[in-house]
Amino acid sequence: MTAQKRQILVTSALPYANGAIHLGHMVEHIQTDIWVRFQKMRGHDCHYVCADDTHGTPIMLKAEKDGVTPEALIERVHAEHLRDFTGFHIGYDNYYSTNSEENRHYAYDIYRKLKANGKIVSRTIEQLFDPEKQMFLPDRFVKGECPKCGAKDQYGDSCEVCGATYSPTELKNPYSAVSGATPVLRESEHFFFRLGECADFLREWTAGASTLADGRSQAHLQTESLNKMNEWIDGGLQDWDISRDAPYFGFEIPDAPGKYFYVWLDAPIGYMASFKNLCERSGLNFDDYFKADSTAELYHFIGKDILYFHA
Ligand code: MF3
Ligand code: ZN
Repeated sequence: MTAQKRQILVTSALPYANGAIHLGHMVEHIQTDIWVRFQKMRGHDCHYVCADDTHGTPIMLKAEKDGVTPEALIERVHAEHLRDFTGFHIGYDNYYSTNSEENRHYAYDIYRKLKANGKIVSRTIEQLFDPEKQMFLPDRFVKGECPKCGAKDQYGDSCEVCGATYSPTELKNPYSAVSGATPVLRESEHFFFRLGECADFLREWTAGASTLADGRSQAHLQTESLNKMNEWIDGGLQDWDISRDAPYFGFEIPDAPGKYFYVWLDAPIGYMASFKNLCERSGLNFDDYFKADSTAELYHFIGKDILYFHA
């Protein structure tokens, strides 16, 4: 039997650009690197891409604290991340950034297609707002007393003392972790992806399999991941809030001034952007890997905590 040459694209989760590479990242990227080297040694066309995940409120606030622009911060961190991974001989074919023109292109392209297909709705929601800093506060940036046990200085989403989870509006004596001011409720228009409408598609696809170039069948998900997926789908999928208000470091949403894509919208698209950038530099054909009837394979190495976002 002659071995069939496979086209394989591999990714590791994109490290967030607000901090240093730690052992958890290293373990994941070394595991990916071992598998990539194995596939390359077998003679397959195998490409390994990664990038820094660069958008969001934490990056914006950290840059401000350091007295630099977000662009300068993510550039510095990119160099540090690459230095650390290279020191461990991780053999990426490309280590890019989600703050790139390629990523903007694919994020806009995907968003516009979703919108044209009626998958985006706008809704007005109420959120905690920092009147001093003039910004809406993500859950982790509101602190206060736990509504269950009364422990002080707990985050807006969960209590580290008693383990309770809640919404930031339930905290007693809430304060902004950014300015210390007392947050107020304020309305804002947000864009939602109609994830709830996609339950049947997701159930089917995640439980499915594809035929590889060598004729073998490859399940789309590992059994463990599939079980977790089914728990979520059975529990009912909520529409997903994909927008954030200025000030925010990220991509502004087309035709929506002052609204930005939530970092988790453009982060996974960063895998495609990194590969596109590699294609431009190396003469590989992007569409060979991403067109609808492609027989190429795409493998994401991720931790279980971020399975939901990838699914
Ligand atoms: N930055 C995220 C984290 O550290 C992972 C992003 S992976 C991607 O958990 F899908 F968004 F690319
Ligand atoms: Zn508590």
